This record gives sequence, structure tokens and C-alpha cells, in this order.
Amino acid sequence: MIVVTGATGHVGSELVRLRSAKNGSVRALTRDPRRARSMRGVDCVRGDLADANSLPRLFRGADRMFLLTSNSDDMRALQVNSIVAARAAGVAHVVKGSALGASDHSKSPIGKAHYEVERALQESGISWTILRPHVFMQNFLDIAPTIAREGRIRSPSGDAKIPFIDARDIAAVAAVALTAPGHEGKKYVLTGPEALSYGDVARIIGKAIGKPLEYVAESPEETRERLVRAGAPPSMIESTLALAAYQRAGGPTAEISTTFEELLGRPPRSFAQFVQDHASVFRGA
Ligand SMILES: NC(=O)c1ccc[n+]([C@@H]2O[C@H](COP(=O)([O-])OP(=O)(O)OC[C@H]3O[C@@H](n4cnc5c(N)ncnc54)[C@H](OP(=O)(O)O)[C@@H]3O)[C@@H](O)[C@H]2O)c1
Repeated sequence: MIVVTGATGHVGSELVRLRSAKNGSVRALTRDPRRARSMRGVDCVRGDLADANSLPRLFRGADRMFLLTSNSDDMRALQVNSIVAARAAGVAHVVKGSALGASDHSKSPIGKAHYEVERALQESGISWTILRPHVFMQNFLDIAPTIAREGRIRSPSGDAKIPFIDARDIAAVAAVALTAPGHEGKKYVLTGPEALSYGDVARIIGKAIGKPLEYVAESPEETRERLVRAGAPPSMIESTLALAAYQRAGGPTAEISTTFEELLGRPPRSFAQFVQDHASVFRGA
């Protein structure tokens, strides 16, 4: 049985859907089972990864785990708690949702935290696969109401080209790595099929909804002020600005990975496909 953490999120909900569609044994974790309404027929358990003492119950009977939580300041602690509980329960393989550029010298606090969890997993003795995806297309769903209201997309990434990936494709790779042999000890960089600038993104969404969108290339200071006003946590703000600086510098952050196609035998979803699939959300419906 696969324990899916982050089961109500962009990646985890799709992973639960994929496993359920194949009648695979899966246990979905959430702090709020009401959020799991759409997961009918799934073994959905309430649990908070911050509460280490409660975790043995959640992992009982599990042999594999998908590990992912949100970008909270306690991400590292939550994920290390999960690894400790998984090990105690006899989980044999863990697939961790990490991030491109996870490193001990990353200027992004989130990139650093991911690296520290990767290390903890590698030192746990459990077999592992690490997924390092690029920026999620679904980030634009999260800000769709603002895009619809303002008719603008804002970013500190300038004209940088970014190979956005659909979170559904990350889930598809996770499903393979959790259920087929041969992915042990592998780190997979995952990207979409093309590198696009935020200006390209604005054009594609605008075309799909029949309303041109403006792209506003913000300075780092403008982005910082906007995110502070929105109440974003400091680690999130620093990580956003660090990532944008890496993207503006070009190089590896624009490279397309062929891993998805090699593992799944089909190309990853394009940004145009993603927008088509969610056109009503972008129209503000
Ligand atoms: N967005 C990007 O562009 C991007 C790019 C690369 C990597 N990533 C990484 O991907 C991850 C986010 O993935 P996502 O967008 O699929 O997630 P998401 O939609 O933000 O959902 C986060 C999930 O974490 C769960 N969670 C958070 N705190 C928890 C706790 N204390 N106990 C139990 N569950 C908890 C939430 O469950 P409940 O709320 O239901 O309890 C939810 O299911 C982050 O680690 C991020 O660094 C993101």
C-alpha cells in the first residue's frame, strides 16, 4: 500500500487519482478530510505530519510512500518526521517530490530545505527516488482569479525561458517510480516540453480566453513589496526572488529534460494543452 502525503495538493491529488483508476492500494493523508471529498472511494486518513507521535498509525501496513508537502517554513521537519515514521513502519521505497536546483548552496531557502530532506532520505536506509521538477504550470491556476481581475501577469523573471511542467505529469512519473522496479537511487529532473517566458505564457492564456493579457516584468523590489503585501512568508519571498535571479541568468534553468518521455513513452503536456484543460478557470468562471 502506498501512503500519499500531500494528497490534496496539485501533484498528490493526481497521484491518488491515477492509483485509484488502476485500483491500486493507496492511503491519502490530509489534515482536513473534508478537502478530500473529491477522493471518494479512497482510504483517506486525517493526519498532521507535524505531530510525530500520531504518525505510526498513519503508516501502519504501508510499503511505499510519496513524500511531498507545501512550501511551509516547517517543510523540512514535516518531511523528516515522515521519513522516520516510514522507516519504523517498514516502508521499503520512498519517492520524494523535491525541486530543480535543490542544493546545499542554493540561495533559495526552499531549495536548501529540499536538499536537506533528500540527504535525510538517502541516509535513512530506505530505497528512494527523487523527483526534481521545474516550475509547475498549476502556479497559474493558483493566481487565475488575480489574472482574470487585473488582465495582467506579473513576474520578476524578466524574459527568462522556463520549461514549466504540468503537475499531472509529475504525478505520472511518481506513479511509475512507486510501482515499477528500476527507479531506486535515481534523481529525475522533470520539465515540460518547451521553455517559455512569462510573456509567452501571457500570450497563450490570453489567446485561450479570448482576452489579451499584459505581462508586467517586475523588478525584484516590486515583487518583494507585492509578496509582503500579500502576506507571503519570508522563506517563500526569498525563494521566489532567488529562483527568478537564477532564471534571468539563463543556463540550466532553461534546459528541457527528456526524462518524462523516456519513462512514460509520450511527451509531457504542453502549456497550451494545460491552459485548454483549465480555460474556464482562466476565464474567471
Ligand atoms: N509550485 C512549483 O512551481 C514547484 C516547483 C518545484 C517544486 N515544488 C515543490 O512542490 C511542493 C508543492 O507541491 P503541490 O503544489 O502539489 O502541493 P500543494 O498543492 O501546495 O499542497 C500541499 C500539500 O501538503 C499537505 N500538507 C502541508 N502541511 C501538512 C502537514 N503539516 N501535515 C500533512 N499534510 C500537510 C497539504 O495537505 P492538507 O492541506 O490537505 O492537510 C497538501 O496536500 C513543494 O514542496 C514545492 O517546493 C513546487
